[in-house]
This record gives sequence, C-alpha cells and structure tokens, in this order.
Amino acid sequence: MQVPRHPEEPPPNGTLPRGAPDPRWALILGVSSGTGAAIAEAVARKPGLDIFGVHRGRYPEAALQMEARVRATGRDLLLRQADASTPESAEAGADELLARAGPRSVKLFVHAIAGAALGHFLSDGPDRLHPRRVQRTFDCMAHSFVYWTQALVKRDLLAPDARLLGLQNPLDETQLGNTGLISAAKAALEMYIRYLAVELGPKGHRVNLLKFGTVMTPALHHVYSPEALALLEQRHAAMNPAGRMCTVEEVARFVCVLTGDEAGWFNGATIDFTGGMTLRLLDLVLNP
Ligand SMILES: NC(=O)c1ccc[n+]([C@@H]2O[C@H](COP(=O)([O-])OP(=O)(O)OC[C@H]3O[C@@H](n4cnc5c(N)ncnc54)[C@H](OP(=O)(O)O)[C@@H]3O)[C@@H](O)[C@H]2O)c1
Repeated sequence: MQVPRHPEEPPPNGTLPRGAPDPRWALILGVSSGTGAAIAEAVARKPGLDIFGVHRGRYPEAALQMEARVRATGRDLLLRQADASTPESAEAGADELLARAGPRSVKLFVHAIAGAALGHFLSDGPDRLHPRRVQRTFDCMAHSFVYWTQALVKRDLLAPDARLLGLQNPLDETQLGNTGLISAAKAALEMYIRYLAVELGPKGHRVNLLKFGTVMTPALHHVYSPEALALLEQRHAAMNPAGRMCTVEEVARFVCVLTGDEAGWFNGATIDFTGGMTLRLLDLVLNP
C-alpha cells in the first residue's frame, strides 16, 4: 500500500513544483564573524541551506572569508549590511529576504549578534551602565530576537518546520565582574524563547536557546588583551572537563544537528552544550 505524502512534504526526487515554497534558507544575524560566521558555513554545507546574513560591516576581512567559504559550498548567499537590532531594521531586512527567497523559505533563524555594554550598574566612573547602554544592550541581545520573529511571521517567511535559535552563555549560573547587563539581557532572551516556543509550536516551528561555553571570537578580542586571552585559555583548560576550550566549529556543527529532523522535539529548551564548563568551579576555588 502506498503511504500518501504529507501536503508539505517535498516530492521524492527533491524537486519542487514551480511556485512552491523552497525551505532552504538560513537567516543569520551577526553573520560576519565568530559564531554566526561558523554557523553560516556549517549549515550551507549540511543540510545545504542558502544564507541571508546581516552584519554592520565592522569585520570586513572576516566577512569576506565567510563569504568565500559559503560560496565554496555552492549555496546562495545574500548579505545585508545594517544594524539588526531595531524593529525597523527587522522589517526592512525581512522585506529583502522575502523578495529573494519567497514565502515559507526560512528553515533556520539564528540570532548571533553580540553587542553589549560592559560595566557596573552603580559605578560613578565611565563604566556606569546608564540607560542608553541598557537600552542598546537589550535591543541587540534580546529584543531583536522578537522583532525579527515578528517580521518573519508577518510575511509568512518561516518554513513549516522552521528552527529558531538564540545563543546563551553560562553566565546565567554565576557572576562575572562587569557582565551583569549581558546576563540580564540573556535572561530576557531566554524568556522570549520560551514564550515564542509556545506561540509558534502549533505551527510546527521550534524555538530554542543553545547554551555554550567560551569560544574564541572577535567579541573576546574586544574585551581582553592578548595576555589576558592566553590566561583565559589556560583557565578554561583547567575548568572544562575536556581540558581545552570549545571551538566555534563545534558549536556550528551542533547547530546543523539542531536543524535536522531528529532534533524536532526540542522546543522552548535551553540546550546545554557547555561541556560541563562550570561543574568544577567550587572544586577549583576551594581546592586550588
Ligand atoms: N564568544 C563566546 O564565548 C560565546 C559563548 C556563548 C554564547 N555566545 C553568544 O554568541 C553570539 C555571538 O557571539 P560571538 O562571540 O560570535 O560574537 P562576534 O564574533 O563579535 O560576532 C558578532 C557578530 O554580530 C554582528 N553584530 C553585532 N552587533 C550587530 C548589530 N547591531 N546588527 C547587526 N550585526 C551585528 C557583528 O558584526 P558587525 O559588528 O560588523 O555588525 C558580528 O558579525 C552572542 O549572542 C554571544 O552572547 C558567545
């Protein structure tokens, strides 16, 4: 007996009827460097997604390298140079994506922008986290996830089985000096993820937060001196049970897994990919 095909299932030979949605696009905010760039290359390779990426142009060299790597996979790539953190830029970006990719084309949306103020809430010095910094950080690290999701849904851009992914760090478990504002914004992002998972679940979409430990990216080079970075690497080797730091490529490969059918039941989850980074903290402090 022949099993009837689901109406949204592509025909067996992989070709789609003319005018049918082609769920082959990944939207990546923060595509030019670090985690976003590695994810773009990885998902272009497997499962073979075309890339619509947004960045502001501050890493031109890294952007060129990412572009070359994605194009080498044979997939399509469209780069938009703009601030992705505002509702207006989400609307304009989604318009451009719709014009290129068509409705129900976005299989994967990854929010990989890093734009945060470091400092202290009560400092009297230049590192005071005044309202403008708080607003910008929340726009970049949290609110923009909602703005883009709203813009995608409004234009029916999400593919039937789309995966939406935010990125988290282990700073929700412990405090780290001047990163209080980042942690607060990530806490908001985590709640956005859970509520959007519930709202989008019935449509077949999945919304998750991928939590991973420190990986070497330009964001870290902004914050630390070379000496501090070397020390950081040493400390992570002591802290991580694997005896070394995680890499962006490892994170990117796992995003490919999360894009696959096997990961379709993850929803509203904070997925721990930290490799046990914080498990030994007390041991290291109390038994140095
Ligand atoms: N690095 C880590 O150890 C680590 C660990 C766990 C989680 N994460 C998370 O992973 C995400 C990416 O971090 P990363 O370390 O990979 O950062 P990164 O290397 O600094 O890359 C950030 C990317 O975002 C773009 N960007 C920043 N602000 C933007 C804006 N307003 N509009 C458009 N593009 C913008 C940057 O390009 P332009 O500046 O040119 O726009 C760049 O492409 C962040 O959410 C971070 O919290 C990182």
